[in-house]
Amino acid sequence: MTNWPELDKKYYMQTIVRVPVTLVRGKGARAWDDKGREYLDFVNGLAVNCLGHCHPVVVNAIKKQAETLIQTSLWFYTMPMLQLAELLVKNSCLDRVFIANSGLEANEGAIKLARRYGKLKLNGAYEIITTLGSFHGRSLALTAASGQPKMHAPFEPMPSGFVNVPNNDIEAIKAATTEKTCAVMLELIQAETGVNLPDNGYLKKVREWCDEKGLLLILDEVQTGIGRLGALFGYQTYDIEPDVMTLAKGLGGGVPIGALLAKEKCAVLTLGDHNATFGGNPLTSATAYATLKYVIEKDIPGNARKVGQYLMEKLGTLKNKYSFITEVRGRGLLIAVEFNSEIGEKVTTACRENGLLVNRVKPNAIRLVPPLIIGTKETDEATGILDRVFSGIGK
Ligand SMILES: Cc1ncc(COP(=O)(O)O)c(C=O)c1O
Repeated sequence: MTNWPELDKKYYMQTIVRVPVTLVRGKGARAWDDKGREYLDFVNGLAVNCLGHCHPVVVNAIKKQAETLIQTSLWFYTMPMLQLAELLVKNSCLDRVFIANSGLEANEGAIKLARRYGKLKLNGAYEIITTLGSFHGRSLALTAASGQPKMHAPFEPMPSGFVNVPNNDIEAIKAATTEKTCAVMLELIQAETGVNLPDNGYLKKVREWCDEKGLLLILDEVQTGIGRLGALFGYQTYDIEPDVMTLAKGLGGGVPIGALLAKEKCAVLTLGDHNATFGGNPLTSATAYATLKYVIEKDIPGNARKVGQYLMEKLGTLKNKYSFITEVRGRGLLIAVEFNSEIGEKVTTACRENGLLVNRVKPNAIRLVPPLIIGTKETDEATGILDRVFSGIGK
């Protein structure tokens, strides 16, 4: 039998600490490894598979499009890309779309757009304010945009034009704003660094400040978009509107795709400014279109809201039972459980051994990002496993 971890060690760049599991198959909220072991998958392709693994809507769209037309170039009109753009615009507060291949690519587009806007409308302003603890992607520019010094250090000097300020601090944003500032870029909830929620009223204050100063508000909804917070887009749950929004993860139901959306007033990228060989390709666009249509028509965000509430209640019960749980936080189906010591790794390992995949977002916290189609059965099963794992840790 092939030893896959050995192959990884020999041939793959060692940039990731892998979990010692080789996944070979998935269906709905479940995945199986090469030894036939079944898992309830609450890592879910890193918050990607909004309809679960291999949902028929996703699979059929891939099959149908693969037999029809896979890749052209943006030089030609193709239908799936334009149908997807129309569906996104008709269901959001944004007016124009550029389809990319990932979250970081969508964010790169947003940065270019904001700089172009600064050049055209803000006397050449080019700086973008982001927050400490944010994660926006792994390109050089987005490494600089991500407010995590440990990501910067190996690649310094960082590209200029990004100012990282403390999270949840409107006064810090105000203090960092100068004549060079063109935009503020935020995640609604800092997802990768611990599911850090915005303080009450913070996002509205940021919106007001951007309006007052004429800055663009870019919302990175790569993780929060497409139903995860219990509405199609996360901004709808916080009652603010972005000028620019980026999407990826859930958008394609599992295939790699991203999208940059902007309001008409700031959709300033023009001929020659932006392109991508695979951007908007028929295969991924058709899959995303079918996924998004299903998500909207079946009110999948409504399910995420309902089941998210139920999961939070069950986790709340566990918090009352185990004193080492200090906080359960989240919105919709983006949830973290935090502990009073650095037992995140121990908990994820024990969960895996008990058939539940979760990930550690901080040394002392785990994250749950199940598919948005789960019901109370999977929720009860997951919290049952967590209860068993926690009881093995203490009181
Ligand atoms: C909020 C946010 N932005 C951007 C990214 C980067 O997306 P990708 O990994 O598709 O480049 C991520 C990935 O986790 C993310 O969570």
